[in-house]
Amino acid sequence: NMLERSEWIKGCEKNLRGGTVYLKNFRCAAKAEKAILKITALGVYEVKLNGERVGDFILAPGWTSYLNRLQVQSYDVTNLLKTENSLEVTVGQGWRAIANKRDGSDFLGYRDTALIAELTIVYADGRTESIVTDSSWTARESKLRYTNIYDGDIYDATFKAGSARHCICVDLEKDMLIPQEGEKIVEQERMPALQIIKTPAGETVIDFGQNMTGYVEFRIKGTPGAQATISHGETLDRDGNFYNANYRSADAQIKFICDGEEHIYKSALTFFGFRYIRLENWPDEIKKENFTAVVVHSDIRRTGYFECSDETVNKLFKNIIWGQKSNSLDVPTDCPQRDERLGWTGDAQVFVRTASLNFDVKRFFKKWLRDLAADQGRDGCVPHVIPNIFDDMGGSSAWSDAAVICPWEIYRTYGDKAVLEEQFDSMKAWIDWMRERSENGRRSGGSHFGDWLGLDSPEGSYKGATPEDLIATAYYKYSTELFIKAAHALGRDVSEYENIPAEAAAAFRREYMENGRVKNATQTGSVLALFFDITDDRAATATQLNELVKRTGHLETGFVGTPYLLHALSDNGYAETAYDLLLRREYPSWLYPISKGATTVWEHWDGIKPDGTMWSTDMNSFNHYAYGAVADWMYGAAAGINSDPDRPGFEHIIFRPVTDRQLDFVKASIDTRRGTVASEWRRENGRIKYIFTVPEGCCASVIIGGEKHEVGAADRKSTRLNSSHLGIS
Ligand code: BGC
Repeated sequence: NMLERSEWIKGCEKNLRGGTVYLKNFRCAAKAEKAILKITALGVYEVKLNGERVGDFILAPGWTSYLNRLQVQSYDVTNLLKTENSLEVTVGQGWRAIANKRDGSDFLGYRDTALIAELTIVYADGRTESIVTDSSWTARESKLRYTNIYDGDIYDATFKAGSARHCICVDLEKDMLIPQEGEKIVEQERMPALQIIKTPAGETVIDFGQNMTGYVEFRIKGTPGAQATISHGETLDRDGNFYNANYRSADAQIKFICDGEEHIYKSALTFFGFRYIRLENWPDEIKKENFTAVVVHSDIRRTGYFECSDETVNKLFKNIIWGQKSNSLDVPTDCPQRDERLGWTGDAQVFVRTASLNFDVKRFFKKWLRDLAADQGRDGCVPHVIPNIFDDMGGSSAWSDAAVICPWEIYRTYGDKAVLEEQFDSMKAWIDWMRERSENGRRSGGSHFGDWLGLDSPEGSYKGATPEDLIATAYYKYSTELFIKAAHALGRDVSEYENIPAEAAAAFRREYMENGRVKNATQTGSVLALFFDITDDRAATATQLNELVKRTGHLETGFVGTPYLLHALSDNGYAETAYDLLLRREYPSWLYPISKGATTVWEHWDGIKPDGTMWSTDMNSFNHYAYGAVADWMYGAAAGINSDPDRPGFEHIIFRPVTDRQLDFVKASIDTRRGTVASEWRRENGRIKYIFTVPEGCCASVIIGGEKHEVGAADRKSTRLNSSHLGIS
């Protein structure tokens, strides 16, 4: 058990909406050889020892399925210790209040926060001493009068807390305490203010040039009692005015009450999604150098790079990277700004492959998947958001399938069997849940999000036109197939599941197809029939998909169809159509938002419409990573780098670049755990020249123009192959 000797403690003050400052003074009789602080909270905390911030973990302890799993952080504080010491921990609600906020109970629903910690000091003579949380600690209210993950901060520099009062010990469980598992959350880039804008409405707005997640660090003085307000927004409206109606109920504001002294302030217990800030009642002269945006997210390492001869595509790729950075704050989220910021399973499932190529997200996803398993129903039903905050929601196809698809993709990219091992029971439970709700391979009923936000949705609906049962049956097939592969990789017997994929595929064809074509076809319907290997007449289905795209000239897919659309085309003889979709600039397309100034990927194809007006305020995030899943096609098809799922972790690389006459070159690289894998093609004197990089110890197959070339295990350092080595002309 962790922190066995420490008690959970709570301050006596009743300021649940703000911060509570816990204090402990102690003396070190001798010089410490080593001092380790183990600490966590119900809520989020920031800890200081002798006035210095301990560690660089922001918003610790992060977000997990708190009832089951609460991470304990461990910090080496040896260098901060003195003879007389004071430990100071500020705790606020953080993610703890989310469920309440969504209940609509807002303030009253706030839950108690609490702290638990142990500081172990080892002296030179071998003696050890432990400072544990107990009733000798005191607590007082913080100048942070209010702090909320969605609404922001109210910081009152003039507030004088009464004297600190003794804490009370509370009888809370410790069973859920676990060591830190995820990546820590840290400050990343610092973004200078680019421009101070006086808007047509007469407001003062600062532009940081990039939509992001984090907070603003600002310098402020003012006169005592002056109150300044900062609001956050992702975009300006058509007239160039500040806009954040799309944040819905999230206030996302900082109110700062001045005391006449100069302060440098940044939020410690909350975060925002924003590119712009609006200043109201600013008490000082407004200068750019007094405002810096600090990007905050999990400490994931960048691994994937992509570049081609089309600058707009390169911008799209950058936006995808920013979308991932913005939605990787301990949990893979839908968006970072409005009153959600939740671990929506569908969004994570759609994006996981791209995520795993762009950044090393092995630890990040493994931690989240353990939360998924912890929050999964006893009956196997997978909730729609993880950590789960909705009591009774779960089971939508494509959302709950995250239980299988995410571990599989992490395994495929990193070759880590442990993730399959750990998640096996969760995967199986989800498959069993679907199985109980299927008949002769067909899934029907249940509640689903369908092809969420598909453009072919009937008026007034967010769900695209593709029937929910069709999608559910297709995912039943696909997830079960991945589950079987996972079982085989682990050497487990799953013979009783082996016939499900064929059965589900047959049911799909029987119910939804005729002569190799999907009935009442939608783009997404045909995409699934192809990409999930359901059709028994690939050529006919592919022709149909190509026709459907040609008919409108653009994509119509939502969350379900979009990630696979280009694969389904280029894998089946329609690479040109795939490139036409990728390179299309008009609405609707991946590149259209860039013409409207997008610096991240939008939730809606038409978040800002061609005439400059906005899609409705109730579902319009400008920082949703889901459609950024197209990057996996950019790596896997345009550059042609693929990790062979049968020999995962890039042990065997399949290079299968798909070239196009509209581009002069494409290059991509991925820093895998075995070394850098790279691929490049360029047009030279009317011919295409290829260069592939294979890390030491890996093998590769190169597939070009239907021909396959095998490359044996590279010995020595990495090997660079070009077209002439391969005999490709
Ligand atoms: C979220 C999505 C999510 C969806 C479920 C939305 O409010 O932002 O991205 O997957 O709900 O339908």
